[in-house]
Amino acid sequence: MNERVVTDYNEISKVLADRSMRQALYDEGGVVMADVLLTLHGAEHHKRRVLEFSILRKDYFAWYEANVFPPALAQVFRTVGTDGHMDLVDFGYRVTMNLTADFAGIDRPEKSAAETERLLRLVKIFSEGATLVHSTRDKEQVRAEVRAGLEELRTTFHAPSVARRKEALARGGDDLPRDILTLLLRDQEKLGLSDDVILREMAFFLQAGSHSTANSMIHALHEVFLRWPDLDARRKLLDDPLFLQRCVHESFRLHPASPVAWRLKEGECPVSGQRVVLDLAAANRQADLFGPTADVFDPDREYPKGIQPWGLTFGFGMHMCLGRDLDGGLVSGPDTNPADHQYGIVTQLVRALMARDVRPDPARPAIQDTTTVRKNFSSYPVLLAPGASS
Ligand code: HEM
Repeated sequence: MNERVVTDYNEISKVLADRSMRQALYDEGGVVMADVLLTLHGAEHHKRRVLEFSILRKDYFAWYEANVFPPALAQVFRTVGTDGHMDLVDFGYRVTMNLTADFAGIDRPEKSAAETERLLRLVKIFSEGATLVHSTRDKEQVRAEVRAGLEELRTTFHAPSVARRKEALARGGDDLPRDILTLLLRDQEKLGLSDDVILREMAFFLQAGSHSTANSMIHALHEVFLRWPDLDARRKLLDDPLFLQRCVHESFRLHPASPVAWRLKEGECPVSGQRVVLDLAAANRQADLFGPTADVFDPDREYPKGIQPWGLTFGFGMHMCLGRDLDGGLVSGPDTNPADHQYGIVTQLVRALMARDVRPDPARPAIQDTTTVRKNFSSYPVLLAPGASS
């Protein structure tokens, strides 16, 4: 297959909005990604997206951020960092795993650390399956592991979650769980969804939100540490949460969780056709849009008209991220009231950690994974204020 790499911001936006271009990054990862929202195309994609968007809406995100998220976060703080030490990678994954399970509709009856651990292990397997195209391991072996992982998800978490929702749907009433699984089960017949497709949609959702949110939180904190190495200066930032949110948005721009998107013209052969590689990370640093300091972390930056502060980090067009407002919150304006603003989960995580005086652990430097284009941290040890995590 030949490929065309596009780095220009406006050209990428055009390709992402072009209805004749289909998703192509996950073709090899069909074992877990076949027929999930991200890989569907045309009318099928539209139908599923409209359905799922009906709950992934701003009012629900605002309610979730204000009511469900704080106690869920407090629960994680009771299990990690209690001795004043923790790893941001571990913390980030635990918090965000639970968050995406809530939105997907995967119940965690025990709400225990072991349960979260098990989900994390499964998600890791699914992610490897989704990006099989990049894997250097024996692909059949990876596929076998994904199949076993899906069965484990089915028997341990999925089947009981389905049973609870089917009972709730049969009972009727207004107290149905507000999550993707409930919607898919309600409309299963109408949409002609097999049980396997629903299982894979759950596996996809669990991945979609967890890595991206955790890594984005770590990058944002890292940028803040670099820019304000002094703890007292960082404490002052807490007085201006809208500014802190701008720091997070600027970090999103510099560190997109998915640095590239792939597309293929519909009807073109996946083997002989031309893959279009959209370099979102490069476009987000385009100097003629973001200025000569495009590579620099600058939360005071003026963004060009019509361009979001995070650039293309959440994608654009038909497949634009459905978790964008959940994680990024709303962009503030001159009339925004900081007291009731929806900041987004990533800013809330950064604030919660900074309120506990989070700082890099001088004895254990962070380790950045330089083997992938994503440059995420594989370990980021930090210290927290003594006793503040209880
Ligand atoms: C900082 C965090 C996140 C980033 C940077 C991010 C980024 C993206 C990007 C770039 C896409 C489009 C991929 C493409 O066009 O090929 C996408 C799609 C998607 N994201 Fe996110 N995401 C994040 C968090 C989340 C969360 C928390 C959820 C769920 C609650 C979520 C759910 C989805 C879904 C369902 C899609 C597929 C939409 C579709 O195909 O119509 N994402 N995301």
